[in-house]
Amino acid sequence: MVDAKQKIHVKAPDNWVNDPNGFIYYKGYYHLFYQYFPYGPRWGTMHWGHAVSRDLINWDHRGVALFPTKRGDQNGCFSGSAVEKDGQLCLIYTGVRYEPANPEDIHISQNEQFESCQMMITSEDGFRFDNWRDKETVLPPLTDPRIGDRTHTRDPKVWRGEDGWYMILGSTFEERQGKVLFFRSQDLHDWIYVNQASKGPEYGWMWECPDYVETPEGGVLFLSAMGLPGILEREKNQAICFPASFDKGTCRMEIPDTYQFLDYGRDLYAPQTTLDREGRRILIAWVRMPEPTGAGWIGMFSSPRVVERRGGHIYFRMHPSVRGAYSREIAHPAKASPFGYRAVFDLEKGEQVDIGGFLISRDGNRIRTDRSAVYPHFEGARLVSQTPELKEGFHLDVLVDENLIEVFINDGEYVISSSVYGIGRQIQANEEKKILLYTLE
Ligand code: FRU
Repeated sequence: MVDAKQKIHVKAPDNWVNDPNGFIYYKGYYHLFYQYFPYGPRWGTMHWGHAVSRDLINWDHRGVALFPTKRGDQNGCFSGSAVEKDGQLCLIYTGVRYEPANPEDIHISQNEQFESCQMMITSEDGFRFDNWRDKETVLPPLTDPRIGDRTHTRDPKVWRGEDGWYMILGSTFEERQGKVLFFRSQDLHDWIYVNQASKGPEYGWMWECPDYVETPEGGVLFLSAMGLPGILEREKNQAICFPASFDKGTCRMEIPDTYQFLDYGRDLYAPQTTLDREGRRILIAWVRMPEPTGAGWIGMFSSPRVVERRGGHIYFRMHPSVRGAYSREIAHPAKASPFGYRAVFDLEKGEQVDIGGFLISRDGNRIRTDRSAVYPHFEGARLVSQTPELKEGFHLDVLVDENLIEVFINDGEYVISSSVYGIGRQIQANEEKKILLYTLE
């Protein structure tokens, strides 16, 4: 079990976590809910775990917020999002019901036979959830396959538009092609189907955890695409993003052909965005891990990142509060707080920096990382990652945590995040290399 109090990175309190859910700033707190299996370090019947923070730096685990109580969510409360309405916190999520029950393991479905509906639970303060009284089904399982799939339709992301509420949902066309569905509502209770959008099967067979946001320079669509072709077998499911545009009147979305990976370490998945206290668009993602840590937990979250679209490119910048939290300069990583440190440097051609066994180097105009010395080796494990060709220099700002290294390149032009195991408390580079180190107070 990890400590209930955490800094910068929220880690599983114990057992298993996956997607961030219901991320919102509400009544003075950041709330981060997440997919949680409380009975073992593996995926199973989904609950929503809950962590809160005043400042995006110091986090407190608050236990389980949502758990199955209704027919619609009897086998799990899958991913979803949060909005505030009339002072209440409303969590809109996917409920699943398995059919038939799996006699050998009630926590997973048999041959993917299940149905999904969209549900809502409300809370007066964001801390107390009555799972018996305050839940309702807002969208029953889909019955018209031309609209969406009865089984694989999930992960509602809801936002407030000028004229009502909008929902984007992930779905599939015949399990061959991912798509997103758009619904509209005046009251969050009754939803009307409006439109859908998709690309070809080369963009994956199912789109999970969609998120659409508008930024001053235009829209951004996030998808977690299942079964992207041409990628390592273990990495077929990838979070990607597009500069997209959306017409509110018709809910018609234009999605260009080319996408960026959310993160070039390819460990991040199922990101979710919200607005921070200052109105910045911020994002948190699940860090996929190959095995439980020595402390018996598996799964954690990235640091919050600021999303910006500029000239058709999507940037993921270190959040200013995160940068500011590493306020104490140190001469050596051995002096760092247990919550890690930040290393800042530029990389010249041919240079390499070794952060406790994690190697960062420059290969032509790309940044390359190699975690071979600090990661379990198994077939299909990604040990080496690299960015596309860089345009804006070779400036690196690296957050080092015991279980995660996040390499921000050129203030978020690209990020490479990698889960790691057993990172050493030293840094090595050529002698004259200038590396600034900062840790948390
Ligand atoms: C993505 C996902 C979601 C689903 C949840 C279940 O990782 O598969 O589509 O709601 O995880 O835990």
